[in-house]
Amino acid sequence: MNKLAINGGEKTIDKNFNWPVFDESDVLAVTKIAKSGQWGNPECGGVVEAFEKEFAEFCGAKYALACVNGSVALRLALIASGVRPGDEVIIPPYTFIATASIVVEANCVPVFVDIDPETYNLDPVAIEKAITPRTKAIIPVHFGGQSCDMDAIMDIANKHQLTVIEDACHAHGGEYKGKKLGSIGRAGCFSFQSSKNLTSGEGGLVITSDEGLYNMMNSLRNVGRVKGGKWYEHHNLGCNYRITQFQAALLSTQFKRLEAQTKKRDENGRYLNALLQKIDGIHPLTRGHGETLHTYHVYIFKYDKTKFNNLSKVEFAEMLAAEGVPSFMGYPEPLYKQAVFQEKNFMCYAIPEEVDYSNDHCPVTEKACYEEAVWILQNAMLGTKEDMEKFAKAIIKIQDAVK
Ligand SMILES: Cc1ncc(COP(=O)(O)O)c(C=O)c1O
Repeated sequence: MNKLAINGGEKTIDKNFNWPVFDESDVLAVTKIAKSGQWGNPECGGVVEAFEKEFAEFCGAKYALACVNGSVALRLALIASGVRPGDEVIIPPYTFIATASIVVEANCVPVFVDIDPETYNLDPVAIEKAITPRTKAIIPVHFGGQSCDMDAIMDIANKHQLTVIEDACHAHGGEYKGKKLGSIGRAGCFSFQSSKNLTSGEGGLVITSDEGLYNMMNSLRNVGRVKGGKWYEHHNLGCNYRITQFQAALLSTQFKRLEAQTKKRDENGRYLNALLQKIDGIHPLTRGHGETLHTYHVYIFKYDKTKFNNLSKVEFAEMLAAEGVPSFMGYPEPLYKQAVFQEKNFMCYAIPEEVDYSNDHCPVTEKACYEEAVWILQNAMLGTKEDMEKFAKAIIKIQDAVK
C-alpha cells in the first residue's frame, strides 16, 4: 500500500504555491514611491486616489476609500451607516473575528445567524427569523469568495429598512449574477492582508455608491476632518486610518493580475469540484447560487468521516497537508464560542447587560467546524489542472490507507 506522507511516505504533491505573486514591476512601483519622498497620504491624492478610482470603477461603485485594513473598512462602514448603541447587527458565526468585533466596537450587538449547509453563507430564512425592532444592519460575508444569496438578503433588508454591509474580504473581483461583490449592499469591504487574493501586506478598502456614507467614512478615516475644512477642524469622532503610498503602489501592480488570477481559481474550483464529487464521503460546497465568479479565497469541501473509517476531521486535515496539499481544518469552533462572547469580555464597550451568548447554537456552523469543513487555500487554486488532480489523488490515498 502507498505509505502516507504523515508516516514517512512520499508526498502526493511536492510544490510551492508561492504567494504573493510578484515581479520586478512591483519592486519598481515601491522603489518609485521611496525615491519620491512622498510616502504618506495626508490629504489623499497620488497613487492612493488613483487606485481607489480604479477599484471603484472595476466594482461598478461610485466611490472607494482605502484604509488600514479590512476590519477598519467594516468599522468605518458600520459607524458611518448611523448605528446607535444597543442596535443589533446580524452576522454569520462562520467568519473571522473582525466581522463580529467591529460590531461590538460600534457599541452594537452582534446577532449570530446560522449558515446555509450548501454554501456556508448566511441563511436568508434564518436572517428573517432573527430580526427584532432593534435590528439595524446585516453583514453578509461572502465566505471563501462565494457570493451570498444577495437577492434574498436585499429583499429582507429593504422590507425591514436595514443597512447591508457586505464583508467582501475574501471576494475581490467575485461576482453575483454578473455584479461585483461589494457593490450590491450599501457598502462593501475588502481586506488586503497578506493572505488575501489582492494584497499589499496589510490594507483595506470600502466601496459605496452612497455619497453621504462616503463623505462620512472619508471624514472618519481622516481624524474627523471634512472636505474643505481646515487642518485643525474636527467635526466627527474619527481616527487616522489612512494607508501609505507604498501600499497603494503595490495594490496597483497587484491589481493588474487580479482578473486573470480570479478566472484561474474559478476554473480550477469547478474542475476540483468535478473531481472531488466522485470521491465517496467528500462533498464540495455547491455552486449555482448566483455566483457567476467565485474567487476561491478558500476552496471548501465537506468531509464525512464515516467513509474514512471514522478518522476525525482534524487527523484527516493533517494527513492531507502532509501529502503536500495546502489545506487546513479551518475554524475549530463557531465564533460565538470564543471567550470574548461567552465571558462577555467587552471591556469599555456599552453592550446591554441582557446580551448572552451562552445559549447560542447554530447547528450548521457547528457541524462545519467540528466535523466537516476542510479548506484548501487560494494560492493552491492558482495551480495547474494536474495539481487539482493530485489534490484529489491525495484524498483517495488517505481513504485507501485508513480503510
Ligand atoms: C471574513 C473576513 N472579514 C474581515 C477580515 C478583516 O480583514 P483584516 O485582517 O484586513 O483586518 C478578514 C481577514 O482575515 C476576514 O477573513
